[in-house]
Amino acid sequence: MRRVDRQQHARLDELTRDPYPLYARARRAEGLTYVPEMSAWLVARDADVREVLRRPDVFSSANAVRPDVVPSPAALAVLGEGIAVRRSVVITADGPAHQRMRAPIVRGLTPARVSAVLPYVAERATALVDALAAPGNGRRADVMEAYALRLPGEVIGHVLGFEPADVPLVVRCGHSNERLMFRPLPEAEQIEAARDMIALQRLLDGYVRDRYATPRDDLCSEIVTSLAPDDGGEDAGPELTLGQRGELIAHLQNFLLAGHLTTTALIGTTLLHLLRHPAQWKLVCEEPERIPAAIEEAARYDTALQGFRRVTTRAVTLAGTELPAGAEVLVGFGAAGRDEGRYERPDVFDILRTPVARHVAFGLGAHGCPGAQLAREQLRITLELFTRRFPGLRLAGDGPPVRMRPTLIHRAPEALYVEW
Ligand code: HEM
Repeated sequence: MRRVDRQQHARLDELTRDPYPLYARARRAEGLTYVPEMSAWLVARDADVREVLRRPDVFSSANAVRPDVVPSPAALAVLGEGIAVRRSVVITADGPAHQRMRAPIVRGLTPARVSAVLPYVAERATALVDALAAPGNGRRADVMEAYALRLPGEVIGHVLGFEPADVPLVVRCGHSNERLMFRPLPEAEQIEAARDMIALQRLLDGYVRDRYATPRDDLCSEIVTSLAPDDGGEDAGPELTLGQRGELIAHLQNFLLAGHLTTTALIGTTLLHLLRHPAQWKLVCEEPERIPAAIEEAARYDTALQGFRRVTTRAVTLAGTELPAGAEVLVGFGAAGRDEGRYERPDVFDILRTPVARHVAFGLGAHGCPGAQLAREQLRITLELFTRRFPGLRLAGDGPPVRMRPTLIHRAPEALYVEW
């Protein structure tokens, strides 16, 4: 596992808070650019990103979300108290194993299934906005905290069929999971995050066992009943084996990470860029039919998932660079969105841009995002509500300057103070 020391972390933080100058240099450079802080070749041009995504046999996903940090021995000891989870999950699997893991997720997120969830999304989004607008709140709030960090967790919990009371733990542990994998935490915080991971495992284990015994009409049951019987060649018995439970917990954990933190992030950045461009905010308030275009522009301009890794399965030449087998590349979804060869004025946020070229913010091909429609619908419902309820919304004049989180996987404002 790659270890990143504190100095490299500081440099990585700087790069990830604003990766766009690096991307621009990499797109202009001949061939691929090796980025030592990321220990990977950066794939920054749109056409090259598409080529990697279309060749999963050569560019394996085995390392897609490789952690930056090895937990301390004390944190590892805490993790050792949990159920040993098998590492290969949909995002890191290839070939037939990947197709098997992906199938129940795709079935659970068909357009019809997503449509069926929308009344719930609208109800929860409205409740959060009502709370935000309640007299006494002073017409000022951090919308990350009050809204963006809440809605996607509630929605993914609902889709999986979890009890609403379990959602806060799920959301908190999602953040702990990310921090433990990617942030250089002091020991005490590592241990706390590891304890959260164990608490989440226990919760998920309860759902796995319950849905195996009594499947319901929810995505958790879909995943559990589809994936349990094939684990390690073991037959499905009346009870799941420890190995089967471990695998299923890993699938659910991975699905949670993929689903809610990304959407939280894109809600935050979409609001940020619309409010930084008040004329465009006014336009979506006056002409809400422009909301879908605003969402696509935000996803192109400043997407949540900036980059995932691939590792070459054999020697290959990409963009003129010869890569040996085992070379790590970082697929720049965010870099591709700013490619001047594909978009005019790519560094300008413009919801009116035409023609709207299709971006790769949700990936494409074998691993393309199965939750894209659910994410877009949450964004749409959010913007419809915010434009209707807070047409005078603006960035808070006295708020701290907006700082982006130092991450490539859930790029978002750390906080977003607004007033209305
Ligand atoms: C704004 C929100 C989102 C963004 C920007 C996003 C982006 C992406 C991208 C770029 C990939 C491809 C990764 C790769 O090629 O290695 C991906 C995969 C995935 N996404 Fe999303 N996603 C979002 C929301 C969601 C939601 C809401 C869900 C679930 C409900 C979800 C579930 C997944 C899963 C399970 C995968 C892995 C698919 C596979 O490996 O076959 N995502 N996402």
